[in-house]
Amino acid sequence: MITKSEEIKVSDYTQEIKRRRTFAIISHPDAGKTTLTEKFLLYGGAINLAGSVKGKATARHAVSDWMEIEKERGISVTSSVLQFEYDGYCINILDTPGHQDFSEDTYRTLMAADSAVMVIDASKGVEAQTRKLFKVCVMRKIPIFTFINKLDRDANDTFDLLDEIEKELGIATCPVNWPIGSGKSFKGVYDRNKKCVVTFSDTEKGTKEGHSEEIPVENEAHLREMLGDEAADKLLEEVELLDGASAEFDLEEVRKGELTPVFFGSALTNFGVEIFLKHFLEMATTPLPRKADIGPVDPMEKEFSAFVFKIQANMNKAHRDRIAFMRICSGKFDASMEVRHVQGGKVMRLSQPQQIMADERKILSEAYAGDIIGVFDPGIFSIGDTICMPKEKFCYEGIPTFAPEHFARVRQVDTMKRKQFVKGIEQIAQEGAIQIFQEFNTGLEEIIVGVVGVLQFDVLKYRLENEYNVEIRLENLPYEHIRWIENKEEVNIEKLVGTSDMKKVKDMKGNPLLLFVNSWSVGMTLDRNKGLVLSEFSRN
Ligand code: G4P
Repeated sequence: MITKSEEIKVSDYTQEIKRRRTFAIISHPDAGKTTLTEKFLLYGGAINLAGSVKGKATARHAVSDWMEIEKERGISVTSSVLQFEYDGYCINILDTPGHQDFSEDTYRTLMAADSAVMVIDASKGVEAQTRKLFKVCVMRKIPIFTFINKLDRDANDTFDLLDEIEKELGIATCPVNWPIGSGKSFKGVYDRNKKCVVTFSDTEKGTKEGHSEEIPVENEAHLREMLGDEAADKLLEEVELLDGASAEFDLEEVRKGELTPVFFGSALTNFGVEIFLKHFLEMATTPLPRKADIGPVDPMEKEFSAFVFKIQANMNKAHRDRIAFMRICSGKFDASMEVRHVQGGKVMRLSQPQQIMADERKILSEAYAGDIIGVFDPGIFSIGDTICMPKEKFCYEGIPTFAPEHFARVRQVDTMKRKQFVKGIEQIAQEGAIQIFQEFNTGLEEIIVGVVGVLQFDVLKYRLENEYNVEIRLENLPYEHIRWIENKEEVNIEKLVGTSDMKKVKDMKGNPLLLFVNSWSVGMTLDRNKGLVLSEFSRN
């Protein structure tokens, strides 16, 4: 029987979980992700002045500056998870690094989010990196909210932008507001729900909001006075068109990831950001249940559980420590409690649990489902591992392996150091920074490394030299596409007929894969081998 005081405790922790919103921001570099995050933090009171989110400047460095970057950043994760409070909500933002930092971790981060905010530059539309990250959101069927940014600059036609999202990404759109002009003639947005125009106002740096006016669209005379006849006519016409043409708003479809609510604004001038944040928080889900081998685990379960989605190795040779990032999936975490690391078969206390907040790390004593914690990892955790209460023993569904896009053949300079070389490269692969493949029919002599972002090649070289004392040479290979063979039991790999540029390899678990130079060859190979099923992700 639950006693009164236990009852109060239960409702305490469920209340904490219910107010959590954990989301990732996806975008192409330069669309305004950092600026938007800064403005969110400003509303949350987490920072006093916009401009203190770290990471952007460092992300712009050239590859050769990489070691300097790491030194500057210490552990290079300072901006990867941010937590702040707003309007009673506790918000966790997961950053998805872009530029040179784009790596498999960027994809893995999406495995820890319950929804995604997609930032699009209004003058550029859907760009490459957004497309890639979007695919992972679709695979997870998480809700996606769109913020079309930079309306204070000349923008593409609004209908065209929505059309592009629908066609390119295959998701229905529902504009929550609608921009009136862009660039020099940007006048504000029309709020479809309230049926009023919110006039554009620029903000002074560091202040929360400017002085917008809300004009009901019925008040046509005032509207014309504020917008001018031309803009008012265009708006009234577009509103009519829109009501007839766009998808009906349906929260269920949003939650299933089939419909994206679209907002327009300008992060830089802080216009439309709070409107977006408010709507987003109302529509976004509380922490979602997660699949495990015992069935889905409800976040409201009292017992704590989590899974590791990212491991960050410190580049500093003197401290070979790593930080394992975990997403709490259920219950409440208490730093003093004992937990079970299922894959390691050990009961333990998590060492130095910490939360990353803007540019500092703080040791935490408790956290709840939906939160992300980083713990000191002496080299025992792997990506996808489950942590739960000592009396339990279940595994969360693994994190897929994502397709690398750059490949190189690796050779050690000193062949006498074979052992260190293999040990080093396998360990780095186990952390998830790189993927390693072998020629299909030969042994380990020829190692092919695949990475999602080219910076990982430098990381590999640097770490092998500094941590394992092994010098390597990398020879770039022309492949850009990799596919796992989903129905490998049904396919005779030896007899598979590919294109002349195709290469058969296997991963460290022996799974067969195909490498291609271009996407055309992928299609051709599928055509030539009826029944062959290829995949961009591997769940093995
Ligand atoms: P990212 O994190 O997605 O890579 O983009 P970030 O926020 O760094 O923004 C990229 C550039 O776009 C920055 O300019 C930023 O000031 C600008 N920007 C972001 N939002 C808006 C907006 O709503 N309107 C306009 N006009 N510009 C916007 P920069 O000159 O490259 O950097 P900075 O010197 O301003 O920091």
